[in-house]
Amino acid sequence: MSPRRILRPLIALVAPLGAALLFGTTGIFSVACAQTPQPKAPDTIESRVQGCTACHGSHGQGTDNDYFPRLAGKPAEYLYNQLMNFRDGRRKYPPMNYLVTYLSDEYLHEIATYFSQQRPPYPPPVKPTVGDSVLARGEAIVLHGDAGKQIPACAACHGGKLTGMEPAIPGLVGLHSDYISAQIGAWRSGSRHAKAPDCMHEIATRLTDDDVNAVAAWLSTQNAPQNPVPAAAGSLKTPLACGSEPQ
Ligand code: HEC
Ligand code: HEC
Repeated sequence: MSPRRILRPLIALVAPLGAALLFGTTGIFSVACAQTPQPKAPDTIESRVQGCTACHGSHGQGTDNDYFPRLAGKPAEYLYNQLMNFRDGRRKYPPMNYLVTYLSDEYLHEIATYFSQQRPPYPPPVKPTVGDSVLARGEAIVLHGDAGKQIPACAACHGGKLTGMEPAIPGLVGLHSDYISAQIGAWRSGSRHAKAPDCMHEIATRLTDDDVNAVAAWLSTQNAPQNPVPAAAGSLKTPLACGSEPQ
């Protein structure tokens, strides 16, 4: 991993976390101040998630810093699985692990459902920073896979429009290329796991570094479709079993 890829997320992380800790008096950051008498904000889901929106955007659209991912519109069970993975240590990213440590299943499910229902616009796709042959390789893997290397098409599970499938496969549009390559790297290095069988671990280990760069670059240059909702549950027959999908 290049130093840039490690540093960018770190720098991006410190600023909003500091701001959230300094100014955050609502949502999950209010726990520490619960004893101080002050006018009570109404306990709505919008106020509860204010601590999240500093990094994930006011409606979960992600923030424009190359790393904080979009949550909006991803299937609710996918988001819920991630929150449980952070809480229970299957996925490691210290600020996220810390934030959800003491939250109950029910609370996490409520937050996941809230973000899954948000529909903020997608950011415009980025201008390519790699050459045409790299983009073509990325497109080929995403849409057709690479049979010789037993790489299934990403679209076989993430949907032809790359908007994911209900209830637990996320869309891949609207994400930064650095975020996508970092996630695939995390599956390879073991800092991200999903429930077994962990199909993404299988797939990540079949991709070379060049494949990962190509896929991430091409995905980040794609427009979101007109109607960016996840495909209906069961509408795609996934080429590998994924434990995160209810059987
Ligand atoms: C300090 C910034 C920060 C705050 C505050 C924050 N997040 Fe995150 N969140 C991140 C980053 C960065 C990632 C990606 C981590 C990684 O690389 O695995 C992430 C990942 C996630 C994911 C997984 C997204 C995906 O597509 O897999 C979910 C869900 C999530 N956060 C929900 C929340 C919720 C809910 C809150 C509030 C309780 C919250 N986050 C607060 C920075 C933050
Ligand atoms: C067999 C089905 C399947 C195939 C094929 C597949 N994926 Fe996935 N992918 C999943 C599932 C299931 C998840 C959610 C895993 C979890 O719960 O953490 C996922 C999650 C992801 C994520 C995390 C998104 C986020 O918001 O954090 C990325 C990135 C990803 N896949 C990229 C790819 C790429 C690139 C390919 C093609 C090379 C691919 N996937 C092929 C099933 C698949």
